[in-house]
Amino acid sequence: MSISRGCTIWFTGLSGAGKSTITEHLVPMLHARGCKVEVLDGDVVRTNLSKGLGFSREDRDINIRRIGFVCNLLSRNGVVAIAAAISPYKSVRDENRALIIDFIEVYVKVSLETCIQRDVKGLYKKAIAGEIKEFTGVSDPYEPPENPEVICETEKETPPESAEKIINKMEELGYLARA
Ligand code: ADX
Repeated sequence: MSISRGCTIWFTGLSGAGKSTITEHLVPMLHARGCKVEVLDGDVVRTNLSKGLGFSREDRDINIRRIGFVCNLLSRNGVVAIAAAISPYKSVRDENRALIIDFIEVYVKVSLETCIQRDVKGLYKKAIAGEIKEFTGVSDPYEPPENPEVICETEKETPPESAEKIINKMEELGYLARA
């Protein structure tokens, strides 16, 4: 059984790290516990709420603040809000941490080499060729979190194992009753 307190699960990590894949596994696990869940995925948000924004630091910060704003509205009303965006800059992630009382940061940790090998969307190839500018990890920075609540190492664990880690942390922090 879930308890009524919502929270925000804030994923951060390189493109192709596994944020969306872990989310796909996490959502049904949360539904099975009776949670209300909403997902704010970077790729999706950029087609509506953040349509027209680019990848400059300024635009990324606006995107992340918008996602944080919505996550705050949802999680304070009992929803588990899941944000799955690169969110490369520590300062704006920390702004969201300060805004959202119930905030669980999940660092999806993976080497750049693995992302380049996976290249699920074919974007790394283009970024390395210089066809896409300001690409995170290639020609734009990524600042890893210093004290994330959870670290998912997607080179070492499967997506269900990563999702399970998050569930365990939610139990530990009192957002889910222990199964
Ligand atoms: S964020 O930096 O503002 O958090 P967000 O997660 O919304 O980024 O969008 C990242 C997605 O946009 C990537 O997964 C990729 O599909 C696409 N993308 C296109 N251009 C870039 C770029 N220059 N840097 C990073 N991702 C890009």
